[in-house]
Amino acid sequence: MNPIKRMLVAPAVAVALWAVSAQATTDEAIAERLKPVGQVCVSGQECVGVEAVAASAGGAARSADDIIAKHCAACHTTGLLDAPKIGDSAAWKARADEQGGMDGILAKAISGINAMPPKGTCGDCSDDELREAIEKMSGL
Ligand code: HEC
Repeated sequence: MNPIKRMLVAPAVAVALWAVSAQATTDEAIAERLKPVGQVCVSGQECVGVEAVAASAGGAARSADDIIAKHCAACHTTGLLDAPKIGDSAAWKARADEQGGMDGILAKAISGINAMPPKGTCGDCSDDELREAIEKMSGL
């Protein structure tokens, strides 16, 4: 083999080897992704991946307290911009009476009202999560 040909062949072999190993990792990755959860979770053993599945299914593990701390407390703790304060049931009740009850203030919390941003900045909160947060803050 002349030197020029050898120079061309060596990289070709390297590329071919690389392609084979790249395919192997891809197959593994695909197999991993196709593994059903039941196969990953063996009873009595640590269950890998279940939290990730639960989280991607909508984060049901989030409590009303978490949502309030993260999204509502900034304004509702101090009554910033006239927000009804956490625990001030009378203030919340007055608002609920004005809006036709819990459903009414929930609707305002979802749409936003004046300085109160839509969903209180919790864009991925469900209506139920917002309702629980309001119930907790208002004591209603
Ligand atoms: C940026 C500040 C801010 C944040 C964050 C915020 N709020 Fe408010 N909220 C307000 C203000 C201000 C008002 C009073 C608005 C008005 O009536 O002028 C209010 C009012 C409300 C009301 C009463 C609506 C009505 O009809 O009178 C509800 C319910 C409410 N907020 C729920 C929430 C919830 C739940 C969160 C968190 C998910 C939240 N808020 C986060 C500022 C905020």
